[in-house]
Formats: sequence, structure tokens, C-alpha cells
Amino acid sequence: MKDKFYRSILQSEALVTCLLETSAYPREHEQLKELRNATVNKYQYWSLMNVSADEGQFISMLLKIMNAKKTIEVGVFTGYSLLTTALALPDDGKGEEGTFDFAFVDADKENYINYHEQLLKLVKVGGIIAYDNTLWSGTVAAPKDDDMLDYLKGCRGHIIKLNSFLANDSRIELAQLSIGDGLTLCKRLK
Ligand SMILES: C[S@@+](CC[C@H](N)C(=O)[O-])C[C@H]1O[C@@H](n2cnc3c(N)ncnc32)[C@H](O)[C@@H]1O
Repeated sequence: MKDKFYRSILQSEALVTCLLETSAYPREHEQLKELRNATVNKYQYWSLMNVSADEGQFISMLLKIMNAKKTIEVGVFTGYSLLTTALALPDDGKGEEGTFDFAFVDADKENYINYHEQLLKLVKVGGIIAYDNTLWSGTVAAPKDDDMLDYLKGCRGHIIKLNSFLANDSRIELAQLSIGDGLTLCKRLK
């Protein structure tokens, strides 16, 4: 069934479960665990909008390696990625406008390119802008007329356009990761 195939970019549900249960859930912060469970209880299927626990782990480590202090996020939902970020910041971390070390974008996909232009002004040179869902459940590689859920079909084109746009943007260094639903890191160069 296409629905099942598109639920994850990994090869099987068993592999997703193995990854989460072996490496992510045992080390997940208690507050994040609580938030994840509350989101599942309240939103059920749509709890998939939270970033996955393994992606959260990666973002947390990245922020610590960068020694990020000023961060900004677009698209909050129940705040899994926001809480992940808050827990990874040092005590003197701040959120006010200025020159940001890190931006995380997980909102309306049709506006990602607009956010990119804004965030390139807000994030400092050397800072990171991270875009979530850049593999869009694997549908970026699927034929346009393939059978897929409406919400996947609706934004697939925006994500494909974004990926090409970012790949051609000389203002950034880019790395697209196959973690979670696909995460593209853009380091501002100028
Ligand atoms: C996929 S969810 C974010 C999930 C979040 N990263 C997490 O880990 O819990 C996307 C969110 O973006 C919000 N959103 C959609 N359009 C937006 C806009 N134009 N500005 C700000 N937020 C928006 C939605 O309401 C939703 O809460």
C-alpha cells in the first residue's frame, strides 16, 4: 500500500522501530518523552508532524558542537523541535532578534524559499539554517502521478523546487541528510 510505503524514508517499519528503540528513546530527555507521548495521545496520526526522536538527537548534538546561543524556529506545532533546541542551549542562550547561530524551519512548505531569504539576513555568516522534510516521505523521487496521500501530493512540488533552489544557491554550503523526513543544513557563507 502506497500510504505505508510513504510513511518513512527508511526501508521498513522494523528498521524505524529498531533505530528509535536502540539509540533514540533510551536517551530521550524525560520532558521530550512526555511531550511526544502527549502529542501522540492528542493528535494520533498527525503526531508525525513532530520531528522524530533520532532527528531531535541529531539537532541537539549539532547545537552543542556549534555552541549555538541564539536560535529561531518557524513552525512549532506541539514544540518537540523547539524544546529539543531549548534543552540543548547553554544558560545564556537567547532568542531575541539579532544575529542568530541557528534557525530551524518546519512550517508551510510553499514558503520555505521566502523564509530562506529572510533567514539569510537573520542568521550570522557561519550560522546554520536547517530545513525539515526535504525528502517529503520519499515522494521527491516518486512519479508525479503516483498514488500518494493528498497532503504529500500537495507539497511535493514545493519541496522539489526548494531542493533545486538550495543546491544552486552560492550563498550557502549545503548538506542534505536522510534523517527523519530529510533535513537540509545550509551554512551561510556570505
Ligand atoms: C510540522 S509542524 C512543526 C513540528 C515541530 N517542528 C515539532 O517538532 O513539533 C508545522 C507547524 O507549522 C505551523 N505553520 C504552518 N504555516 C505557518 C506559518 N505561515 N507561519 C508559522 N507557522 C506555520 C503549523 O501550524 C504547524 O504547527
